Amino acid sequence: MKQTFAWKGNVIHTPECGRLELRPGSWLVCEDGLVGGVFDALPEKYRGIPAEDFGDKLILPGLIDLHVHASQYAYRGLGMDMELLDWLEHNAFPEESHFANPDYAARAYAIFTEQLRTSATTRACIFATLHRPATRELMEDLERTGLPCFVGKVNMDRNSPDILRETTEESLAETRRWLEESGELDLVRPILTPRFTPSCTDELMAGLGELQREFHVPLQSHLSENRSEIRWVSELCPNTRFYGEAYEQFGLFGGGCPTVMAHCVWSGEEERKLIKDNGVFIAHCPQSNMNVSSGIAPVRTFLREGQKVGLGSDVAGGAHLSIFRAMTDGIQCSKLRWRLVDQDAPALTLAEALYLATKGGGAFFGKVGSFEPGYECDAIVMDDAGLPTTRACTLAERLERIVYLSDGLPVAKCAAGVRLF
Ligand code: GUN
Ligand code: FE
Repeated sequence: MKQTFAWKGNVIHTPECGRLELRPGSWLVCEDGLVGGVFDALPEKYRGIPAEDFGDKLILPGLIDLHVHASQYAYRGLGMDMELLDWLEHNAFPEESHFANPDYAARAYAIFTEQLRTSATTRACIFATLHRPATRELMEDLERTGLPCFVGKVNMDRNSPDILRETTEESLAETRRWLEESGELDLVRPILTPRFTPSCTDELMAGLGELQREFHVPLQSHLSENRSEIRWVSELCPNTRFYGEAYEQFGLFGGGCPTVMAHCVWSGEEERKLIKDNGVFIAHCPQSNMNVSSGIAPVRTFLREGQKVGLGSDVAGGAHLSIFRAMTDGIQCSKLRWRLVDQDAPALTLAEALYLATKGGGAFFGKVGSFEPGYECDAIVMDDAGLPTTRACTLAERLERIVYLSDGLPVAKCAAGVRLF
């Protein structure tokens, strides 16, 4: 049931990229699940609704993780001395094969779901594994917890070990069955998830294109993450001019198929034009790009081009689930890119990073990630009392410290207008 309530505190959000709106000592009103507004004093018409005064704490939009692998949570922080393709072979694939066992999957996904529940993240685009029952388990865990996520049963029918590969027919039949069953859920929705082009034959991609048009589901995958991967795709798909076309040729790249692609570190001008023209979202995952030595994505170029961009933890390529951490990683690696690669591309600012972490990624879910009236109410309350300092900080400085110094866990959280704690 969508709720109506009011929270008082220091309210901060980013209605536009690069502009922090700071509203000290204000009321955030949630009305039937949607933001009613931010007010200096609680308007008369809201008198009597459940209200909580959080004093000097900060109220922010819930953070959005646009790319995370729930099935890799167990080995985050491990195996980080490898490049992407070796890392997949030695870490991701062996771990994901355990999800054939429902007991293992239940234990692993219970841990992931609990960590996500208590985090500052309110929504995420999540990869499970190719196993349908385990994927269903994850979706039910998230639904019970109240996190409105997209979850994907992964498709992979080539270039993977025997223990983690389906036949094309199995992959399509299992995906169809999973899509049919997913209709019963309310908050958690299915998203088609071809792992990446090297894992999916043309026949599988064509079949997924047909399922997309039949079920009208969105799609997530990986794009132009790593140079060896891109070289491999150009060998596998000699008919394409660039990686993005390997998805586009099957109708799986934006347009009528809402799409989020992780990384785009090496997307060239032509690929970025197709991304823009087709309204494809980019999940910028800076920590993963550093850990598996992929590179530094041109996030300033994305913003200048008006691309749709959000942040992703990409656990376990990224070791940290925190999107506050993704904000600082994004800022820091944009500084390195400016210093070392492109002096015409200034670093991300804190306000820009907060936008990417909230309204930027939130747009993939609809009107999400801002406190403008009519947005779905996703909010977190952050307490910085545990970060003592002799300095008298402004509100913007307090936000900066929360982002830089903590893996901050909120003291209260609501998602889609329902209070979780
Ligand atoms: N490309 C294909 N699979 C993966 C994965 O699991 N993680 C990352 N970072 N890239 C991938
Ligand atoms: Fe990934």
